Amino acid sequence: LTSQVELVAYDDPEFHDSLERANIRGVSVASAVVSSAINVVTAAVGIAAAAGVLGVLHPVLLPLLLLAVLPDAWATVRGARMRYSTMYSLIPARRRKWIIAELLADREPAAEVRSFTMRGFLLRMYDAVARAEQEVLLTLARRQTLAGLVGEALGGLGTALVYVALGVLLAVAAIPLAVAGTAVLAIRTGQSSLANLLYATNRLYEDGLYFTDFLQFCADAERRVPAARSAAVPEGFERIVADDVTFTYPGADQPALRGVTVEIKRGEVIAFVGENGSGKTTLAKILSGLYEPDTGTVSWDDVDLADVSPDDLRLRTAVIAQDHTRWPLTARYNITMGTDKGEPALVAAASVAGADEVVAGLPHGYRTLLDRRFKDGCELSGGQWQRIAVARGFHRDADLLICDEPTAALDARAEHALFERIRDHSEGRTVLLITHRLASVRYADRIYVLDHGKVTEQGDHQALMALNGLYAELYTLQAAAYR
Ligand SMILES: Nc1ncnc2c1ncn2[C@@H]1O[C@H](COP(=O)(O)OP(=O)(O)OP(=O)(O)O)[C@@H](O)[C@H]1O
Ligand SMILES: [Mg+2]
Repeated sequence: LTSQVELVAYDDPEFHDSLERANIRGVSVASAVVSSAINVVTAAVGIAAAAGVLGVLHPVLLPLLLLAVLPDAWATVRGARMRYSTMYSLIPARRRKWIIAELLADREPAAEVRSFTMRGFLLRMYDAVARAEQEVLLTLARRQTLAGLVGEALGGLGTALVYVALGVLLAVAAIPLAVAGTAVLAIRTGQSSLANLLYATNRLYEDGLYFTDFLQFCADAERRVPAARSAAVPEGFERIVADDVTFTYPGADQPALRGVTVEIKRGEVIAFVGENGSGKTTLAKILSGLYEPDTGTVSWDDVDLADVSPDDLRLRTAVIAQDHTRWPLTARYNITMGTDKGEPALVAAASVAGADEVVAGLPHGYRTLLDRRFKDGCELSGGQWQRIAVARGFHRDADLLICDEPTAALDARAEHALFERIRDHSEGRTVLLITHRLASVRYADRIYVLDHGKVTEQGDHQALMALNGLYAELYTLQAAAYR
């Protein structure tokens, strides 16, 4: 199941909610359900015995016993429901508390927590959330107590009725004294068995609520996992086409892409440019099969990506992500990602953006652990990390290389080396380049300009400059700074 969860949309807040509601400890919830079920059966047997005795003694005693216990049953079931719905409603508050605690204690935000003097602010926010949570929990306790009180009072009334009935039966001589004595014993045993039954049923009911969530979550996860797909990604494609693609992030009210059509031919360098939030990263993720379009198709030659196993596709694409991960592994694993193709491939990939220089400066070379939480671990600078991320993309040696802002943190020399490498097509790679450094997209075979999720301009540098649209404006703006 965990691997299913990783496969399905990790970007859907609702899915996260249902995951938290299901508590994901499906096994422990299931075992709780089983043990409560056993307790229910045990208690039921006890009651059946007591009820049998009472039934034999006098038929009136049996329904009276129920009267003494049903109000209690009502109160406990009601309490369980209240607790469940309260816990459900508290999920965002708990998540908020947990996130604030992490922010206050983690290494990454520590510098900004200090420089923006966030400590007091975060603590106050934590207090406010905790107070609100406490308020909700107190209200729950009050309501549960009230329901319990009503249940117990009615139950007590029922018990009194039972004893009155017993007295009456005794007085009218419907039963002899010895039988009445036995009945009292049977009623007390029956009541304690019933109390056990109630407790166990209540547990079963409450665990059942959580377990139902868990089952729903599993069904949801199952639905999101793509069915087995048999089509093979064409070896060395001729062209990749995204046709009229629309995509909206789960829970978002605006689509991130609206009717986008782009084409990438083998060996080309294609660039996506556009302002922040225009949809470049989203489109790249769709082209590499990380997201599925809501409408429209993406195809490699004649194969629709909807028919291709995502893992197959991912082996054919390499991504230098805009928000690359800083893997807490050795420098070597940070580049090879567990696929060892030998030393020459590693060194060649590392040389592209100067990751080799970074590694040369590390105490144990490629074997240096890039995580300071371990002894002898090293920390890199932002740009050094980006060089490693670039090397990772090149090491994969895939049919399609997607570079999403690969140079944002690189120094001028490293940036130049990377763009040279991309430009001279020497490896016959197909490259999708996303960047705000417009000087480096001049040499792209085709440039797509995205604006608010739409392709508004396309063509090579000359054509777009002649068009005098958004691209020309952005380009001129940037070029002016260098004059
Ligand atoms: N993971 C996400 N979940 C929900 N909405 C998202 C997510 N990522 C991006 N968006 C939204 O989708 C739109 C397009 O985002 P995208 O990341 O594709 O922009 P971009 O063109 O790559 O911008 P940038 O130049 O800043 O990298 C934005 O409006 C953004 O708010
Ligand atoms: Mg982006």
